[in-house]
Amino acid sequence: MNDPTVSRRDLLKSAALAGTAITLNSTLAKAEELLLEPPAVAGASMIGVKFEKRDKVRLGIIGVGGRGLGMLGEWMAVDGVEVTAICDIDKGQIDRTLKRFEKAGKKAPAVYGKTERDYENLCKRDDVDFIYIATPWDWHVPMAVAAMNNGKHCGLEVPAATTVEGCWELVNVSEKTRRHCMIMENCCYGQSEMLVLNLVKEGKLGQLLHGECAYNHDLRFIINEGRSEGIWRRLPHTKKDGNFYPTHGLGPMANYMGVNRGDKFEYMVSMSSPSLGLNEYREKTVPKGDPKWKEKYVCGDMNTSIIKTNKGRTIMLQHNITTPRPYDRINLIQGTQGIFRDYPERLFIESPENKEERYESLAKYKAQYEHALWKTTGELARKNGGHGGMDFIMVYRTVQCLREGFAPDMDVYDAAAWSVPGPLSELSVAKGSAPVKFPDFTRGRWQDARNAMA
Ligand SMILES: NC(=O)c1ccc[n+]([C@@H]2O[C@H](COP(=O)([O-])OP(=O)(O)OC[C@H]3O[C@@H](n4cnc5c(N)ncnc54)[C@H](O)[C@@H]3O)[C@@H](O)[C@H]2O)c1
Repeated sequence: MNDPTVSRRDLLKSAALAGTAITLNSTLAKAEELLLEPPAVAGASMIGVKFEKRDKVRLGIIGVGGRGLGMLGEWMAVDGVEVTAICDIDKGQIDRTLKRFEKAGKKAPAVYGKTERDYENLCKRDDVDFIYIATPWDWHVPMAVAAMNNGKHCGLEVPAATTVEGCWELVNVSEKTRRHCMIMENCCYGQSEMLVLNLVKEGKLGQLLHGECAYNHDLRFIINEGRSEGIWRRLPHTKKDGNFYPTHGLGPMANYMGVNRGDKFEYMVSMSSPSLGLNEYREKTVPKGDPKWKEKYVCGDMNTSIIKTNKGRTIMLQHNITTPRPYDRINLIQGTQGIFRDYPERLFIESPENKEERYESLAKYKAQYEHALWKTTGELARKNGGHGGMDFIMVYRTVQCLREGFAPDMDVYDAAAWSVPGPLSELSVAKGSAPVKFPDFTRGRWQDARNAMA
């Protein structure tokens, strides 16, 4: 203890690793260090900070690939939005995007993408209020940081960041610049997710106890294609083992449980199955001699984590994109008086009339509990929108917040808390499923009661 060459950080670190004979790679070692000693406060909290009111939202888009170009239609369909600038390093995607402007009879945006860092020039423009970022994961943090440092609010595709360090950087830059960094988690705006949120808020399920959620989606074909996500989304499977895509399941679950609004993710444990799916897929589909045969897949096909919240609730969170299976986000929420689960959606609420403990359809509750956004905009959403209309509702609501001067539904603290199970699951898996504590990105403000998704 008296050795001046041993820092407090070293002592904490060795205490945390005591009893484990595990060597962590540099990213996980940094993650562990940050869990023990979070970075210094950068500025006042961004919780509840309202956007400035504006008549029109001038939008910049970085990344017009599969997702960014798909979402362009949603942005264009909402009143009061002008897309003033786009950026992509793929000339083909820029050309496809410009054709969409032409077809819609809209003024062509300014174009960036000459180099990998040309997005910095888009961020400097003075005719951009909000920047939507839909690029590969490793670009999310530097792009959001550039946006905020240039005075722009931004919305990040999911997950917002893939490291603990990246999550803290988003929080600190948002606090320092007073700019919002939203997570564009479309699943929070799903019709059933929003209806169930209303049921929960009205206490129909009683006191909440347990949730289950996932991203279980067979992406073997997509991540093996020679384009789009096939270029970058298979690579993490050769480098790390954990849950790379936690937010589609966890965002709606956090809203049900009021995470960062009275409850908090406390700690998690994570374990992975063997990694076999991509090997079998390659065996069946990839010609011998293809560079993919040099890849070694190390991510377990099914990663399962359990999160404990401050109120003692439990959440089972899964990730599996490398085996044949129907799509499933599970979306289960259990309370003291009932349970909802999705895929297919069904509900059981204890009542004298339902003695046989049979699930009912959610349709019965629609008239009373449908979310106001779906009541007013559902028809338009279904007509325009991807993913059953949730993409449109998310964009519509984001624009509404920006124009009316509301605080965003999903702020930088949500972005960090929902994304951080990515690196925390890697850390827990690497340490033999040891419990790993969540950082408190809100620095104590998670206890403030506030409404999830107004
Ligand atoms: N919310 C959803 O439902 C949903 C669905 C699909 C994808 N996503 C997310 O959207 C993001 C993008 O995924 P995608 O499927 O569109 O991938 P994609 O590969 O199809 O598109 C990414 C685009 O980013 C461009 N890009 C890469 N580096 C760049 C740089 N430095 N500057 C400018 N452009 C750059 C690429 O050229 C490409 O066009 C990811 O974060 C992904 O997880 C979300």
